[in-house]
Amino acid sequence: MTDIFDEIIQCLRREQSADGSIYISRKNLTEFYRNSASSAPSAPSSAVREERRTAAPPDRPAVSAPRRESPYFPERAPEESREPLERAYSPLDLAEIAAMNWDQLKTATANCRACRLCEGRHNVVFADGSEQADLMFIGEGPGADEDAQGVPFVGKAGQLLSKMIAAMQFQRSEVYIANIVKCRPPGNRNPADDEMDSCLPYLNRQIQLVSPKVIVLLGNVALKGLMKRGGISRLRGQWLDYKGIKVMPTFHPAYLLRYEAAKRDAWSDLQQVMKVFGKVYPRRNH
Ligand code: URA
Repeated sequence: MTDIFDEIIQCLRREQSADGSIYISRKNLTEFYRNSASSAPSAPSSAVREERRTAAPPDRPAVSAPRRESPYFPERAPEESREPLERAYSPLDLAEIAAMNWDQLKTATANCRACRLCEGRHNVVFADGSEQADLMFIGEGPGADEDAQGVPFVGKAGQLLSKMIAAMQFQRSEVYIANIVKCRPPGNRNPADDEMDSCLPYLNRQIQLVSPKVIVLLGNVALKGLMKRGGISRLRGQWLDYKGIKVMPTFHPAYLLRYEAAKRDAWSDLQQVMKVFGKVYPRRNH
């Protein structure tokens, strides 16, 4: 039976619209089953299977069938590598988070199981620096070093960030450093959209409690995670606004380690931030 239904699911997937926007619902699966029950479906021959495989457009996006309990279809979604968050993990109480104090927020994040990133973490990486800071930096998410130590930006990129902060005439301990996601994405992949969204209520509360004058967004993931906009190369160096707070997007330090030439642009972005705080980089007299 399972093989036949797998075949049915595959066939339905191939029949769906080319843009992949139509989900295979339980309704159309059960209808398909009922309609074909009288003429009991038989498994297609291997030749037919092969023909169908090759007929499918190579670049059609993979569409995942919703996973629901069904007497007909076993719970199995071989093409899904990621469990939908709303099903597998505990949803957050947004109103509760928005009213949390620092201790409550730290406890909530330490115990968080709102997304799949909780599975592989060693530490929840909450933040570093001063909770009274006027300047806040937001990165992407913890890497291996940060996951091991529970502190953001302590690896190679972190060392460069510390130098950037010092060049801006701030102590690292007087700024506030956080990330879009608090748990390490496996293999240092970018956090997925649903992972960023699920972590955002915590970050929003941190921003609200710190209430910085300026937020520096480090890299495209931070830009996308907070501002829902992509294109760091285009948007860097331009002032944006997040809930009344000035936001300066710039390149991520890890990117600057790979592309030295981008440091000049990043420095000019950071100098704009320095101006807000009345800090001016002394010009050298040649
Ligand atoms: N990269 C980030 O974006 N954040 C960290 O904490 C470390 C590296």
